[in-house]
Amino acid sequence: MTEAELYSLYKGVYVPTHLHPPESLRYCEEFTFRPDDILITTYPKSSTTWMQEVVPLIVSEGDLTPVLTVPNWDRVPWLEEHRAILLNLEQRASPRVFATHFHHHMMNESYFKIKPRVLYLMRNPKDVFTSSYYYYGMASYLVKPGTQDEFMEKFLDGKITFGSWFDHVKGWINDLKGSVEKIAKFLGKSLSPDVTEKITEHCVFKNMKQNKMSSLSLVPEEYMDQKKSEFLRKGKKNHVTQLKGENKKEKPDLIYSLSYNA
Ligand code: A3P
Repeated sequence: MTEAELYSLYKGVYVPTHLHPPESLRYCEEFTFRPDDILITTYPKSSTTWMQEVVPLIVSEGDLTPVLTVPNWDRVPWLEEHRAILLNLEQRASPRVFATHFHHHMMNESYFKIKPRVLYLMRNPKDVFTSSYYYYGMASYLVKPGTQDEFMEKFLDGKITFGSWFDHVKGWINDLKGSVEKIAKFLGKSLSPDVTEKITEHCVFKNMKQNKMSSLSLVPEEYMDQKKSEFLRKGKKNHVTQLKGENKKEKPDLIYSLSYNA
């Protein structure tokens, strides 16, 4: 079956219609968050299932009962999936734990107002690609992947469910100002909003590139020939086609995960 038959376009990305009928997307759009909600956020095949085990166990302080008695799709429900409507989530005790594959820009108004706790889990895209390839081969609600090369083209173009891995990661973690604030907090420095703004502005790629003290342009040409390739080159996503044929690892390789208040 084709994309037109199996997928709906929601806020610019494909979602599998079988799992996300219009009423589920509407429910998700109108959902009200609480500040102490925990939202596990991932691009598909980034080991969400693992976090749906770890986080409830931390919340239950090691009591295995929830993970041995409640299926993970009800234990940590997908806000955008059809079951969310049936689970009476409004009555759940805090802290509620949810999962979503939505991109940052797809989150609803309540999310941006209430700012729940977000645990963003990112997995190496090569492993996400391989995991997705097999998943698309076995799930009836997804378009069959074809050959690895064919699926790679779709993966790179974001023409699969939940769109592009690159856009997903960029949308959730490419927040320079938020990162400056987090690093400052971690280092025990209390910065005024003006200073945070100044640091952020200075560290934007195009501005940092102008700083000879940081661009390594003072290094003699005999060591680095920046006429061949600048040290601070473009600051953009790179030759992703190198991914092709490199998927031999069996275990997921998590680059890192990070958590923050939205
Ligand atoms: P593979 O297909 O590479 O095996 P998701 O949960 O987001 O759908 O991602 C599924 C991937 O997470 C699968 O990867 C799965 O094996 C991996 N995964 C799930 N639980 C895991 C765990 N406890 N430890 C390591 N990987 C896990």
